[in-house]
Amino acid sequence: MSIAICPGSFDPITKGHLDIIDRASTIFEKVIVAVAHNMEKKPLFTPQERIEFISDALNDYNNVEIDSFTGLLVDYAKKKNAKAIIRGLRAVSDFEFEIQMALMNRRLHGEIVTAFMAANEKYTYLNSRIIKEIAQLKGDVSKFVTPLVEEQLKKKYMNK
Ligand code: PNS
Repeated sequence: MSIAICPGSFDPITKGHLDIIDRASTIFEKVIVAVAHNMEKKPLFTPQERIEFISDALNDYNNVEIDSFTGLLVDYAKKKNAKAIIRGLRAVSDFEFEIQMALMNRRLHGEIVTAFMAANEKYTYLNSRIIKEIAQLKGDVSKFVTPLVEEQLKKKYMNK
C-alpha cells in the first residue's frame, strides 16, 4: 500500500493545508496527517485540539488518518511504512527551509522521499501564524479556516 505522511504543526490547520492533504489523498492509497509535538514552538492549541480540528475537516475522507508524533519525523514515517513525506510549497521563501529539511531527512533515512506540492495560488500568502495574528486582532478569518477553527480562535482570543 502506498502511504504518505503529511506532517506539520497545524496550529491551527488552514485551508492551505487542507488543499495539500486533499491532493495527496488522490495520489496515495493512504495519507497520514501527523501533528508534531514540537518542543521548540509554543503552540496556541494543544495537540489534542489540533487533532480535533483536523478530524472535523477531514471527516469525509476514507483514506486519510490523523495522528500525532514526537521525535524524529523520519523515525515516525519508517514506523508507519510510509513511502513519502508531503510538504506544500507556497513561495520561493519556503524553499530554503524545506530543502534543508528534505535533504536532512534523506541523510537520516534514505528510503523516504520528500515530495513537494505547489500550494493552491488562492492560499499562497496563508500560514497559521498570520491567521492567529488576524484572529487576535479581531479580523475575519472565515475564508482561510474551517468554521470550527474560526470559532475556537475567537474563543481563545475573546478576553485577550
Ligand atoms: O508545520 P511546520 O511547523 O512547518 O512543520 C514542521 C515539521 C513538524 C514537519 C518539522 O519541524 C519536523 O519534522 N519536526 C519533527 C522533528 C524532526 O524530525 N526534526 C528534524 C527535521 S530535519
